[in-house]
Amino acid sequence: MHPTDILIIGTGSMGLGLAGILASHSGIPVRVYSRLPADTTRTIVLTGRYSCSVPVRGVSDPTSSTSGTLLIACVKAYDLAPVLKIVYQQAIQAPALVLLQNGFFIKDFAQETFDALGIEKRPELVRMITSMGMNRTGPVTVEVAGLGETALEAGETGSWLAELLVHCGLPAYPAATMGDKEIEKAVANSVINPLTAVYRVPNGALLCEHAFRERMHLLLQEDALVLQHLGYQVEVTVLFENIRKIIDNTAGNRSSMLQDVEAGRPTEIAFLNGFIIRKAGEMGIPVPANQAVYEQVIRSTTG
Ligand code: PAF
Repeated sequence: MHPTDILIIGTGSMGLGLAGILASHSGIPVRVYSRLPADTTRTIVLTGRYSCSVPVRGVSDPTSSTSGTLLIACVKAYDLAPVLKIVYQQAIQAPALVLLQNGFFIKDFAQETFDALGIEKRPELVRMITSMGMNRTGPVTVEVAGLGETALEAGETGSWLAELLVHCGLPAYPAATMGDKEIEKAVANSVINPLTAVYRVPNGALLCEHAFRERMHLLLQEDALVLQHLGYQVEVTVLFENIRKIIDNTAGNRSSMLQDVEAGRPTEIAFLNGFIIRKAGEMGIPVPANQAVYEQVIRSTTG
């Protein structure tokens, strides 16, 4: 049975942007859930690659979802555990949850969170990896700055959502193996996001300056080494080509980590470079470039 409606969890740039695109183009009812009291209709304004204003209903109670509701978690990786706790400790009926976080091995993290919380009735988890560039430019205004590709874990739900996104004008496809996609994307985020946050530049600037390119290569080489030691067959040239493609598609975008740093919010650094540093530490591999950028980002978020 295909979903009859969509409940987006999270009202950051990605949550609002995706809600706006789906509500204006999919023909399926879309609501947004946030922990704030939100039983009101908000008019989401999209600019950039999309240009429209669309009313979307907010809900503060996820139990209003039915067995036909598809949940899409658009919260940041550091908010995923509290959201899973709030949502799944209530008797919600939605059978599938789409995970759209930046980071390495997010599905494992979600399963570990369910284990730790003792939650037995779990949804089907569907990984979604996107290179769309979304900038929040006002409380409910999102600039869709880049239409990078979106991969969805193939299966009934993932393939259905990929088709729906294509119908909405987004380049999306179902992917049989998400492991490589997730690793490529997390590596790209571990290079693009902290450097744009440290230098406070849009993504496109990273390819323009020699000093930025050099730091990108150092991070990339360390990431590849750690992942190879973990048993993943990754190649620096392939990973770099993916990064170049993402930067080209989102050149004008301010990365999500840059937006977090500028807004004084926590960042996803622990799920990106923090992951590489932890694994490198366990295997005795020095990763000075990751360590340096990690510390710079932490410093910029703690004042
Ligand atoms: O985190 C982000 O900002 C995005 O994943 C991306 C693709 C790097 C675009 O800015």
